[in-house]
Amino acid sequence: MLSKSSAKAFFLTGTAVCVGAFLLLTLDTLKQIPKQTNEQTMNESVIRGKNLWDKNNCMGCHTLLGEGAYYAPELTKVFERRGEGFIYAMLTDPQGIYPGQRKMVKYDLSDGEKKDLIAFFKWIGEMDLNGFPPKPDLVKPN
Ligand code: HEC
Repeated sequence: MLSKSSAKAFFLTGTAVCVGAFLLLTLDTLKQIPKQTNEQTMNESVIRGKNLWDKNNCMGCHTLLGEGAYYAPELTKVFERRGEGFIYAMLTDPQGIYPGQRKMVKYDLSDGEKKDLIAFFKWIGEMDLNGFPPKPDLVKPN
């Protein structure tokens, strides 16, 4: 059995090693963020789009980077999935796209505001997220 002093040394060394590893991994992650998020391509329009996203509580229904509510589609890759024209139309008149059946709010956004939201979705979609969101493994119909 360990003596009291060696148990203490074991505990302290173990704690120090784990804290050290945790700090190094945290620093490594922080170092990778600018590259993975393409920080240099973030412009005024993207920032305005992000503020519109927050102000209009889009997260009350949608998720971005997996964060938010699970009522409406995940939007991290919406730019790639749907393209600019579809997103613009959706932000203009959702009922026009899905008459009488869907639940997306009709916002009163200006042309510039819609373009800012689209710029924000494009920027988010270009982040290197290590494969998130995973592509669904769909079963092919026979
Ligand atoms: C009350 C819930 C709700 C809120 C709030 C909401 N949405 Fe939606 N949104 C939906 C639903 C539900 C859909 C799926 C299509 C449908 O059913 O109308 C959708 C679809 C979309 C789509 C198309 C996604 C796709 O893959 O087809 C985009 C883009 C979008 N919303 C953007 C936004 C933005 C930007 C905001 C904030 C300004 C917002 N939404 C706020 C419910 C919401």
